[in-house]
Amino acid sequence: MAEVVKKPIKITETILRDAHQSLIATRMTTEQMLPIVEKMDKVGYHSVECWGGATFDASLRFLKEDPWERLRKFRDGFKNTKLQMLFRGQNILGYRPYADDVVEYFVQKSIANGIDIIRIFDCMNDLRNLKTAVSAANKEKGHAQVALSYTLGDAYTMEYWTDMAKKIEDMGANSICIKDMAGLLVPYKATELVTALKEAVDIPIQLHTHYTSGVASMTYLKAVEAGVDVIDTAMSPFALGTSQPATEVMVETFKGTPYDTGFDQNLLAEIADYFRPIRDEALESGLLNPKNMGVNIKTLLYQVPGGMLSNLTSQLKEQHAEDKFYDVLEEVPKVRQDLGECPLVTPSSQIVGTQAVFNVIMGERYKMVTKETKDVLSGKYGATVKPFNPEVQKKCIGDTEPITCRPADLIPDELDTLRKEMEQWSEQEEDVLTYALFPQVATEFFKYREAQKTKVDPKMADTENGAYPV
Ligand code: CO
Repeated sequence: MAEVVKKPIKITETILRDAHQSLIATRMTTEQMLPIVEKMDKVGYHSVECWGGATFDASLRFLKEDPWERLRKFRDGFKNTKLQMLFRGQNILGYRPYADDVVEYFVQKSIANGIDIIRIFDCMNDLRNLKTAVSAANKEKGHAQVALSYTLGDAYTMEYWTDMAKKIEDMGANSICIKDMAGLLVPYKATELVTALKEAVDIPIQLHTHYTSGVASMTYLKAVEAGVDVIDTAMSPFALGTSQPATEVMVETFKGTPYDTGFDQNLLAEIADYFRPIRDEALESGLLNPKNMGVNIKTLLYQVPGGMLSNLTSQLKEQHAEDKFYDVLEEVPKVRQDLGECPLVTPSSQIVGTQAVFNVIMGERYKMVTKETKDVLSGKYGATVKPFNPEVQKKCIGDTEPITCRPADLIPDELDTLRKEMEQWSEQEEDVLTYALFPQVATEFFKYREAQKTKVDPKMADTENGAYPV
């Protein structure tokens, strides 16, 4: 009898990053996460994704938390598990391209504070925008995972993806991720894609998808059968809908097969018990919208990621133009075509979405053009898979000569200037990076942090001798 070759499927848990980013606008606090870290550390996850993406911005802006402090607390708690972050290539965790010195320093400090695996993607799939981050991760002995921003369109052939994968391997990446932010990868296509990628490269392949269109767990099943090495899942209280397939469900699916994870379902149940009240609370406060929990088949029609759908709804609400929702949805693919059929992922998703809103509510396409749309059409976000629509380009940027080099080659080093600008607030080296990404939000946060220190705790002040704590 032929011996069955065991190949346990590895799992990246996303509940501390993508799951709450996708379902509750990244509002889970460090305080809510820390008590469960010790148990999560015992599961045997390949990694726990817990940092990067929108968590950095949301921590500072809404939760008044220092994201670096959060990372250090995770590092203390997760003694055995690798910590993973999501990184937007040359855009770091922000919305515009930064100079190389900022990218390098950010990678260095992320690893120094506890990150093991950095998943790096570019919203245009322009590999030149990933080079600096990958080299920096290699230099710091971190695991550099490069993501293919998965999208659909004539230009995105199997050959396109395998060619890109080979280039990524040559670039020095340690693994490749198929990053399907909108849940567009259907099961049998996953078989085809994973098979092709496994043939093209030797480094491990990870699959990341969202449940938005309802096919995600079937897609994982087919991908695992085709040889994918790692899948991204979220513990059930924050799974499904716009988030990932549920960890427990995928674990059970592969039980007793060559892909068996060996995870303890009782331990997973205890972890789920911990997160369930947090979910209930979010449902009660309205933070978790039941609308995000169901299958949204529109995502397949319009190829719009879940997060982008909710952004569009709120932008239209602000403009009192909610009735234009479907007009905007139809405009999105048209703008995407004009902008070289780019993937829709931060920041290109916001750029395309906002421009689509303007095009619809102004009643004339490109009558009002955002700075970011102009920057895309000027080549400042990198090269696109297809040429820009020349008429649109002309209308938006006139006779300006678009750049064709790696965009960051034209951005002078920024760190020294940034350091001078924020000197008065600096308490740790990492603060300059926080400031680099979000100057205004960071300054507000630094002021808040300062105020917290001098704020007198009434209980402490009311001591017998009336002394104030120093
Ligand atoms: Co995601």
